[in-house]
Amino acid sequence: MCGIVGILGATPVADRLLEGLKRLEYRGYDSAGICTEHDGELDRRRAPGKLANLAERLRADPLPGLIGIAHTRWATHGGPTEDNAHPHIAGDVSVVHNGIIENFRPLREELIADGRTFLSETDTEVVAHLVDRELKRGLGAREAVAAVLPRLHGAFALAVLVRTEPDVLFGARLGAPLTVGYGDGENYLGSDAHALAPLTQRIAYLEEGDWAEVRRDRVQIFDRDNATVEREIVNSGVFGHAADRGNYRHFMQKEIYEQPVVVAQTLRSYLQRLEGRVTLPIPESDLSDVRRVTVVACGTSFYAGMVARYWFEQFARVPVDIDVASEFRYRQPVMEPGGLALFISQSGETADTLAALRHARAEGQRIAVVCNVPTSSMAREADILLPTHAGPEIGVASTKAFTCQLAVLAALAANLARAKGKLSEAAEREIVRHLSEAPAAINGALAYDEAIEAMAGTVASARDVLYLGRGTDYPLALEGALKLKEISYIHAEGYAAGEMKHGPIALIDDAVPVIVIAPSGPLFEKTVSNMQEVRARGGRVILISDYDGVAAAGEGCIATITMPKVHPLIAPIVYAVPVQLLAYHVAVAKGTDVDQPRNLAKSVTVE
Ligand code: G6P
Repeated sequence: MCGIVGILGATPVADRLLEGLKRLEYRGYDSAGICTEHDGELDRRRAPGKLANLAERLRADPLPGLIGIAHTRWATHGGPTEDNAHPHIAGDVSVVHNGIIENFRPLREELIADGRTFLSETDTEVVAHLVDRELKRGLGAREAVAAVLPRLHGAFALAVLVRTEPDVLFGARLGAPLTVGYGDGENYLGSDAHALAPLTQRIAYLEEGDWAEVRRDRVQIFDRDNATVEREIVNSGVFGHAADRGNYRHFMQKEIYEQPVVVAQTLRSYLQRLEGRVTLPIPESDLSDVRRVTVVACGTSFYAGMVARYWFEQFARVPVDIDVASEFRYRQPVMEPGGLALFISQSGETADTLAALRHARAEGQRIAVVCNVPTSSMAREADILLPTHAGPEIGVASTKAFTCQLAVLAALAANLARAKGKLSEAAEREIVRHLSEAPAAINGALAYDEAIEAMAGTVASARDVLYLGRGTDYPLALEGALKLKEISYIHAEGYAAGEMKHGPIALIDDAVPVIVIAPSGPLFEKTVSNMQEVRARGGRVILISDYDGVAAAGEGCIATITMPKVHPLIAPIVYAVPVQLLAYHVAVAKGTDVDQPRNLAKSVTVE
């Protein structure tokens, strides 16, 4: 899963392609490359590793040309080497690709039997060869592309540059997003509107199976049957200014600190504070007939969904199924009429979640999407779009998107409960009051930053770390472990506190810090009992609780983190903060690349 940009420019394109790639680095940063045509030749620069390496190479050896394609890679087939970096060239054809060509092996064998030599281990290189072979057989560029596309199985977004026709770029999409940008005497291709934002806001989203012939003065779009189609040109509303780190050391740190503001911003569009009402951007009656909710998401968004399951069941008394998106379709889930399928995604582009959404739609479910990018594929395909207003999240490890998702999901749970007649006016007013307290409570949690930084060394020297929680703190334990793994590369596991004695307790010794998330509340005593079981076996506990909890159970812990006392409804939102800060400071102590950790990408656009 990768990012692609193409420019058919009136002026040289290399710098602008590089700028587009910077805006797509969230899709992967294993290698990057640019290919242009100039003086009748294809010319390219590629570099393994972060985009800065490619920028350096371009500085040393600039790339002229008025037409070009560019790529930032997250390796699927073939390691992150320069040979495997896109663009790939075969004869007169250069290609960049996002996705996976699933039938690349037989195609490759066929091409090798035809005398073609491969220079990379990628699936993508077959596309360049296939198009080049059609050219050599005498087809024009458009006909060659049209002949090759039906031979490709899997998921792809492609941009193709043909040496012999340097006034045209081809783009194609199937299962991976691609947009066409309309400029002034120039036109563009890009994985998303964000990549093209410095160039244009005028965007057409290609639909499944579409492909496009892009020239400077016109764009022609075809569907999978090669019939000419019109795709509406919309204003993306995405502007060119890049996010900046301000005075923060990392984007992740900045994004953790933004949470009081962005959670407040998000809640503002769901809560009518004076009236004590929760409102959604849909008519209330829409939810009254919901009989079951199916929640599907990946990664941190999945953990937000796990928290929400407790709320949907507790408040609305509606049964909830929940799956990680990569498993959902393959277990052949039973979805009955009247079901609401809820997809949670920061990016709105995660391939598995998007595929699950389409599966649920085909099964007759109503589609709700909680999403941070209103121009994304999922947002555009939703029946009910519930936006988070977190602003661009740049750090690969999700932080502010998570707490904003929780805020929206709490509002959705309350709304569903009211629609189902399970929530009195007084109870709704209470929910609004508690949710309204979240931003100030997050601020209170941020005040413990230095104390958390001071204890980061203890965790940084560990090889394994366990996180324990119960109820809505159980998904938070999973999220804490995920954050630590992602950015500090320390092995960590999250467990339901009560499940500890069914196996993981065997791991306990004085080298394994155990982080217990236990706000005082109905489940506190039970979690603390599990914590004592750990301590009785020599385990070293870090307790995250409020003043009462720390006073009651903090003795004997190697460290405690004292949170503001909050209502259990907003505890997962507030307790997310120390969990994020701890992972952040451990990663800083270990000297890892906090914002772009190894092997990861912010948006996972392959299955
Ligand atoms: C990647 C990111 C995670 C994110 C997950 C789901 O794995 O590294 O931070 O939680 O994808 O992404 P989404 O955009 O669908 O929320």
